[in-house]
Amino acid sequence: MPGKKLIAANWKMNKTIPEAVSFISDFKNLIKNPKNEIVICPPFTALNEVKKSIKGTKIKLGAQNMHFEEKGAFTGEISAAMLKDTGCEYVILGHSERRHYSNETDELINKKIKTALKNNLKIILCIGEALKQRESNETMKIIESQLKNCLKNISNNEMKNIAIAYEPVWAIGTGKNATPEQAEEAHKFIRQLLKKSYNENVSNNTRILYGGSVNEKNAGELLAMKNIDGFLIGGASLNPRSFAEICSA
Ligand code: PGA
Repeated sequence: MPGKKLIAANWKMNKTIPEAVSFISDFKNLIKNPKNEIVICPPFTALNEVKKSIKGTKIKLGAQNMHFEEKGAFTGEISAAMLKDTGCEYVILGHSERRHYSNETDELINKKIKTALKNNLKIILCIGEALKQRESNETMKIIESQLKNCLKNISNNEMKNIAIAYEPVWAIGTGKNATPEQAEEAHKFIRQLLKKSYNENVSNNTRILYGGSVNEKNAGELLAMKNIDGFLIGGASLNPRSFAEICSA
């Protein structure tokens, strides 16, 4: 199984710069010697100041999105090189909110993954089914097609820089997390798919994160599952105490 667990905070459209800096100063005091790899993904505007605030700690910086083109006339967009500039090591791609509100397709996400890799960014790739799809027993079919299309023409070697986040859409921000068994079933399936499309090595070493209403109460039992290698956390990552407790789960 993959080495260190990866615990990532997705702040979404939350926190001004002072709020972000204050979070880091509290969080640093709560988490002295983390065993897990911790990544914080603030909004673009706070990346610089968060980078300064985490200096000297093991906390890493990530972004929540980027454009697939290297540069050019794309008003309001942010490039991979700009993220590198601010000290980002990670970028979240394919989040269900971006798929839903910004019509991002697997094909677009695949382009973004390639650009991110070219620019030496590590990727947290989000996939997951909607409630309707789960209810009509399409969960595994959706996971398989998202994974296949998002990872089109991505090599064995490039997979070293990609973590998969399984985030059932019905569990995001709803307070209704997947049960450890439901999550484990999906994670195990993802691991089998990685073995089929790549090899045993890629399958064993790719971190598969769970996301969807993770909090300090359910983190322990989810993380105890064999194929859960970390979390992508929204709501509970906005509070330093909750996030610190999850990081120590
Ligand atoms: P949530 O969000 O923890 O608030 O459910 C998770 C996510 O969207 O990554």
